[in-house]
Amino acid sequence: MSLLLRYMRRRDIKPVVAIDRLCFQPPWSAESYTFEIKQSSVSHMAVLERRAPSAPVMAAGWRGRLRQQLRRARAGTVLGYGGIWRIEGEAHISTLAVHPAWRGCGYGEIVLAGLFGKALRLRADYIVLEVRVGNAAAQALYCKYGFRRVARKRQYYQNNKEDAWDMRVTLDGAARSRYARLLAGLRRRQAFDDGYSRASRPRG
Ligand SMILES: CC(C)(COP(=O)(O)OP(=O)(O)OC[C@H]1O[C@@H](n2cnc3c(N)ncnc32)[C@H](O)[C@@H]1OP(=O)(O)O)[C@@H](O)C(=O)NCCC(=O)NCCS
Repeated sequence: MSLLLRYMRRRDIKPVVAIDRLCFQPPWSAESYTFEIKQSSVSHMAVLERRAPSAPVMAAGWRGRLRQQLRRARAGTVLGYGGIWRIEGEAHISTLAVHPAWRGCGYGEIVLAGLFGKALRLRADYIVLEVRVGNAAAQALYCKYGFRRVARKRQYYQNNKEDAWDMRVTLDGAARSRYARLLAGLRRRQAFDDGYSRASRPRG
């Protein structure tokens, strides 16, 4: 399977919102995602996409080839997504999710590694996030990348008054070395192209 991590575009909002509804209570609206990718100057949103396998060109002529290429481009499936807000010294993970059907395959780690790489690229001093105290899977992923629980935010989530952990990792030399080692291991297990962490934010 061919995987691509890239900046989120407007066309991704529909599948992203569909996954959001399966993952979060309350989910973000399509308008929120539109704001993040079109208006916010601090937001860097990513999607992990499965690209359709390239098929041999069958149709004759440039029109036929163009039609086929367009069909192929549309066939990409959003598997997961995430984002950071880059504000002052901070990179704040705004969201991170993988479609329930695709969990446990390393895709959440690819997205987190991309966000981590983006935070380094944007010269953040640290990365911070909030996570439900009952969300063991996400906490394990964050701990793997060196995040530590630094504070408990009481009744942070409005829907059920669940507490949140404030988790942080300082982007010092040790964190960079751990990240490089984990990224190399991840790449040995999963081939993916990263068109996000080193890319500039697309305009418009
Ligand atoms: C958290 C989430 C993104 C993980 O995505 P995923 O693709 O299933 O995770 P991966 O397969 O990439 O696993 C990477 C690491 O996450 C941790 N992890 C993932 N699933 C886990 C589970 N069920 N139990 C414990 N740890 C788990 C492990 O540390 C794992 O590393 P390992 O394989 O070396 O053990 C996914 O569970 C999700 O979308 N959850 C709902 C949304 C959410 O809670 N987002 C976080 C908001 S703060």
